[in-house]
Amino acid sequence: MARKILVTSALPYANGPIHLGHLVEYVQTDIWVRFQKLQGNQCWYVCADDAHGTPIMLKARERGITPEALIEQVGMEHRRDFAGFNIGFDNYYTTHSDENRHYSELIYTRLRDGGWIDRQTITQAYDEQEGMFLPDRYIKGTCPRCAADDQYGDNCEACGASYSPDELRDPVSVISGQPPVQRESEHYFFRLQDFEHMLRTWASSEGLQDEVSNKLQEWFDAGLRAWDISRDAPYFGFRIPDTDNKYFYVWLDAPIGYMASFQDLCNREGLDFDEWWNADSDAELYHFIGKDIVYFHALFWPAMLSGAGFRTPTRVCAHGFLTVDGQKMSKSRGTFIMADTYLRHLDAEYLRYYFAAKLGAGVHDIDLSLDDFTQRVNADLVGKLVNIASRCAGFINKRSAGRLGPRLDAPELFRRMSARAEVIGGYYENRAYARVVREVMSLADEANQYIDEKKPWVLAKDPDQAEAVQAINTTGINLFRVLMLYLKPVLPETAAAAERFLQIPAMQWSDAGQPLLDHEIAAFKPLMTRVDPAAIEAMIADSRESLKPA
Ligand code: MSP
Ligand code: ZN
Repeated sequence: MARKILVTSALPYANGPIHLGHLVEYVQTDIWVRFQKLQGNQCWYVCADDAHGTPIMLKARERGITPEALIEQVGMEHRRDFAGFNIGFDNYYTTHSDENRHYSELIYTRLRDGGWIDRQTITQAYDEQEGMFLPDRYIKGTCPRCAADDQYGDNCEACGASYSPDELRDPVSVISGQPPVQRESEHYFFRLQDFEHMLRTWASSEGLQDEVSNKLQEWFDAGLRAWDISRDAPYFGFRIPDTDNKYFYVWLDAPIGYMASFQDLCNREGLDFDEWWNADSDAELYHFIGKDIVYFHALFWPAMLSGAGFRTPTRVCAHGFLTVDGQKMSKSRGTFIMADTYLRHLDAEYLRYYFAAKLGAGVHDIDLSLDDFTQRVNADLVGKLVNIASRCAGFINKRSAGRLGPRLDAPELFRRMSARAEVIGGYYENRAYARVVREVMSLADEANQYIDEKKPWVLAKDPDQAEAVQAINTTGINLFRVLMLYLKPVLPETAAAAERFLQIPAMQWSDAGQPLLDHEIAAFKPLMTRVDPAAIEAMIADSRESLKPA
């Protein structure tokens, strides 16, 4: 029976461009979604820009525009970049929407009426000149531990110490440069501690990744504490119902943005929201996230949903961080690469393939080694996969009037490869994409060996062997077709080009078993070109340049 699956990726902040680190997540999710759709499941993929919070408010101010204008512009850039990488969202929305306000207020009032919202007065750094409370990141000063100056209010980059901003020596506001004062304000807190039992049950039933379970265990052991969900004006966000000047903290309404984006999709597609979000929903809900935001997705979010009477996530899938050539992405080294810069130099399919080849179900960081990237794409995709088609297509195009023959020369081999559909499907389901890639490449090796052994170019010299040559090349093309299907979630554009070449409708997973026989194909055009190392050099140079003042 077809499954009903709602999938999300984390919502990128609307204050900066998409970079290759982000793309680990969107590519990982997109591959999974494409696989589910190929299987015939009813799968919807929604996302949005995360448009609220202090950094966005201040960035807009710095540019002399309204936050609305900023998020509009960044939203357009994000959509463009994601489209460039073939991220197939069914809906891409914004958290600054009516739907999100509706669900944020609904969830908040249900939590409040359930007795899970406390009020408490806290003391915080306040910038009198700017008239605003200062988040820790907006206070700088001298480290209380090692005396390094110009350190942030929450931790020291010189000695690694963590502290609270009131321990910082000679603190100043990053915004005005003035020393902050301490001021009191009433805040709203969500009683997370009341959900420990619920969270433990949720966590134990949901097959979380080991690393995530362990983290949760640590948090339970340390004791859950109430979560501060309010911020004082000025703030760019939604005002809390029945207050004059209190706003929802951005992380309160951000995950609710998943619901809001889905609601927007429901409005367009005529879907029934409640069927997917009611507590007794039979649909699956998958959140793909980075390891840095597990806390929000595996504690606050299920607790909020449960307290407000909604269903909880089926699974939270966390991934690691991207490094480039073994190091954190760096602007000075030119390895902090924007999506848009990449696309000016290289094909999106390369990166999708490379990430797939590196991604497993765990939360390990993944490294983009630029030499390895070039080699792998050239050796695997061009040298092995596409090579199968280009070796066989010429014979079919020229000697068989563009027609695949009525029989396969090696039906056994074809059957063996198409029988891998189930195992490979299992790898996709479990996000073991590196295994998919390894398996498909080893099958591609076999296909190439088969052609090497059959030597159709030798047989082709003998006019009596025309039928045999056609059967061999028909086999080769059919092996290529099955392998291309297996990589279709990873390489949607190449797969579409292959479908045009083969003159077949969009392949489904269930097509793996039937060979394509007695069928006319189009003239072969190269499906993919090699990575040019010069393009990589140019991309790095461009990424360095984006640092120079305009
Ligand atoms: N706005 C929040 C998410 C809210 S979800 C309700 C946020 N935004 S983000 O733009 O900082 O990150 C978006 C996603 O990209 C996160 O899952 C984050 O982990 C991921 N990544 C951001 N940089 C990354 C790398 N360098 N490497 C891998 N993933 C990275 O967090
Ligand atoms: Zn220090």
